[in-house]
Amino acid sequence: MTAPTEPTEAVTTSSTTAEPGRARRRDDPTRAGPRPVDTVDGTWVVRFDRVERWLHWANATLVLTLIATGSLMYVGALSGIFGRAQVETVHLYAGLALPFPFAAALAGRWNRGLRRDARRLGRFLTDDWRWLRKRIRRQGNLRIGKFNGGQKLNAVLVAGTLPVMLATGAMLQWHDRLSDSWRTGATFVHDWGYVGLGLLVLGHILKALADPVSMQAMRRGTVPRRWALEEHPRWHDELPVSEPTEAGAPAEGGAAAATPYDDPRSDQP
Ligand code: HEM
Repeated sequence: MTAPTEPTEAVTTSSTTAEPGRARRRDDPTRAGPRPVDTVDGTWVVRFDRVERWLHWANATLVLTLIATGSLMYVGALSGIFGRAQVETVHLYAGLALPFPFAAALAGRWNRGLRRDARRLGRFLTDDWRWLRKRIRRQGNLRIGKFNGGQKLNAVLVAGTLPVMLATGAMLQWHDRLSDSWRTGATFVHDWGYVGLGLLVLGHILKALADPVSMQAMRRGTVPRRWALEEHPRWHDELPVSEPTEAGAPAEGGAAAATPYDDPRSDQP
């Protein structure tokens, strides 16, 4: 059976004509500004748009707060330092706040980049499974898309764990009507979820800190196109080869067009 050829993902391009003065910062190609995901600007590519970065850091702040306050409550001696009641209150409100950044990021037309990348993270391609199995990953014979198998696995596990933690946390907070066995079950799941989430987040942070280009992508939005070619060749090949259009104007079949990730059969062997 022959391997299917993947359709090219059509994306936008933008010009780099920088006006002097006020517009300079806005037109700095190393900053994504309001440009959509996968926009190419000279030798730079937009990896994450503003909404994605805002959601990432808002969610990271809440999750890290939850892990920190959860750790303080876990180690009873530590919670005494700050006062158990205050630590519990911060933990409760940070948990209840978790859905709001997601809701805000998904609520409007600004959600396109986020939805596109969420589809990418949720779809495991053949080379992603190979990536997860392979001991030596940098041999150059795997065609990695925008995210590698490890990033996808981490994202799926975190996305699955957060609602479970929220639900079991709510059960522990408002437990009056619950039987002992429900309470015990919720405590068990919440405690082990804390351990699992803590390990996932720790691994994620260590990987991120070891990769300055990725850190720049999450802080400013862009990465050098060359990095995309070397680290994420399948993603790079989806980027446009066409001439730049007027700033911000979608090229033919622009960013809202169908992508390989919209086609559920795109990576069937
Ligand atoms: C604490 C909760 C956090 C969660 C739930 C979280 C989740 C995610 C997810 C789902 C992604 C997209 C997939 C991926 O690239 O792995 C991502 C990307 C990223 N995260 Fe986080 N994150 C958290 C905290 C952090 C922190 C504290 C840092 C920095 C120290 C960080 C740095 C990054 C970077 C640099 C990327 C982009 C990687 C790339 O270029 O693909 N994250 N994060």
